[in-house]
Amino acid sequence: MVKLLNWINARFPLTKLWNEHLAEYYAPKNFNIWYYFGSLALFVLVSQIVTGIWLTMNYVPTEEEAFSSVEHIMRNVEWGWFIRYWHVVGASLFFVVVYLHMFRSLLYGSYKTPRELVWLIGMGIYVLLMAEAFFGYLLPWGQMSYWGAQVITSLLGAIPGIGEDLVLWIRGDYNVSGVTLNRFFSLHVIAIPLVLLGAVVLHIMALHSVGSNNPDGIEIKKHLDHSGKPLDGLPFHPYYTVKDWFGLMVFLTLFSLIVFFFPDFWGYFLEHVNFDPANHLVTPEHIAPVWYFTPFYAMLRAVPDKFLGVLVMAGAIAILFILPWLDKCLVRSVRYRSPTFKWALFAFAVSFIGLGVLGGLPADPNRTLLARIFTVNYFFFFLSMPFYTRKEKTKPIPERVTFK
Ligand code: HEM
Repeated sequence: MVKLLNWINARFPLTKLWNEHLAEYYAPKNFNIWYYFGSLALFVLVSQIVTGIWLTMNYVPTEEEAFSSVEHIMRNVEWGWFIRYWHVVGASLFFVVVYLHMFRSLLYGSYKTPRELVWLIGMGIYVLLMAEAFFGYLLPWGQMSYWGAQVITSLLGAIPGIGEDLVLWIRGDYNVSGVTLNRFFSLHVIAIPLVLLGAVVLHIMALHSVGSNNPDGIEIKKHLDHSGKPLDGLPFHPYYTVKDWFGLMVFLTLFSLIVFFFPDFWGYFLEHVNFDPANHLVTPEHIAPVWYFTPFYAMLRAVPDKFLGVLVMAGAIAILFILPWLDKCLVRSVRYRSPTFKWALFAFAVSFIGLGVLGGLPADPNRTLLARIFTVNYFFFFLSMPFYTRKEKTKPIPERVTFK
């Protein structure tokens, strides 16, 4: 084995990479439960790719056969139901994990100097993930697949001047059709996953070049031992590989419970209307995207003008990209920040979840009013930041990491 390793090392920096990213990558000692979600996201990414490959073996991306090929996978292909449900549940859990992963960054100021690029690449990943989920959702060619794609692609038609042509170009047809299905399939199975994988590699490279933040938001590189290693750090392997393994086992238990007992998750992971094949003559009574898109969908519906609605929805995502430059406070972690920030963050989380709930329900005047209030608060959280964070009254931060 040693000989083999030496042979490889003479030709490829295997041990160097192992040491740099695992055995000699020093991560802060005080990671808590919020730090599980990065490795879990990595696991779900791989699991989506593997189940996706197996689904592709039996799925047929044509208007005539897509729906029945999925039914064929569910009923005839050995373990097909398992692979499909794992992929469907995995898509939703991907967003659960990624939303928690992003919220951790808000809690501990992980987007601040020097981790702006980690955050920016993360945001790129988030947008790619949304595109991946949107393209994938058309593939089973159910009623909601079809009408969801129809509604979302038509939004681009609101762009003045080029809108109509753009919609035609994206659909490849005057309506969502087999042509659209075919191109969404190729984007879903190869184009986006390829870029996504590359972006995740960059994300981790960027993180490892600056080092991980932690729940205290302080720099562990300030206190080194005689050999230059951070006193408040632990080698990622074996300490955090073991810890992440434990997190993975808990996560897999939940994952399996859902896949085996509640695979459609009461219509939240697999909408019931989507058990009917696409029919372009019958519009479903209530069109709503899957839960992870509903906060943005609620914003879109809250704005009376279609084009402005699209702008607000796009703006809600775009503003996250510039977060590192909106927050002027030098203290990273919420633990040592002002009550104003804590309340603002709390109100932001309530607004986002509130929008998510509203976006999944049919609109009525009261709900629309509530969605407007939440939308304003969503933007207020970001736009007010440069003002109140400049002179924020923070608590003194500790010299060394703390444990409860
Ligand atoms: C496929 C999706 C993603 C994967 C596989 C992934 C993976 C990881 C991993 C393994 C870590 C280190 C462990 C940890 O801190 O939990 C990490 C850290 C980080 N990620 Fe992600 N990530 C993803 C998406 C995102 C997104 C969407 C954002 C934000 C927009 C983001 C922002 C960050 C930040 C700021 C850190 C540094 C956190 C710190 O040191 O406190 N990531 N990511």
